[in-house]
Amino acid sequence: MSDSALPVPPAAPIANAAFTAPNGPLIATGDLRIEIPGAETRTQPKASLCRCGASNNKPFCDGTHRTSGYQDAGEAIPAANIAELTETGPITFTPAPNGPLLASGPLTVQNAAKQTIATTTSTAFCRCGASKNTPYCDGSHKAIGFQG
Ligand code: FES
Repeated sequence: MSDSALPVPPAAPIANAAFTAPNGPLIATGDLRIEIPGAETRTQPKASLCRCGASNNKPFCDGTHRTSGYQDAGEAIPAANIAELTETGPITFTPAPNGPLLASGPLTVQNAAKQTIATTTSTAFCRCGASKNTPYCDGSHKAIGFQG
């Protein structure tokens, strides 16, 4: 039998992960689908997603956090019990109007030290810069009148 007749093993599913850069964006990797209001959904392997609320290219980071004074070290503490993800497939990020970045699909969430703080198949990340429970939305976007 020639090598070309050998069965090709299936490709391992792509694992999706997102970590918080210190005082900066949420950096996501994997099989990403990013919904952009008024535009086509993007499929890409990596994205920097705004957390500070000041980007002029939402939902993406444009570097404005460096001048906006955004502060979040990304030191969220890992949950006591972190479930193993059994689901595979793409992760879809959807910016809710004037609200959080919704994430739907299997995702490992990491802090700035790349420690896993949670696994999830559905969550809402803060993208207004005001949450007291980063990287997640705590509803503060309503109090600050976030637009975006
Ligand atoms: S988007 Fe920041 S608290 Fe909800």
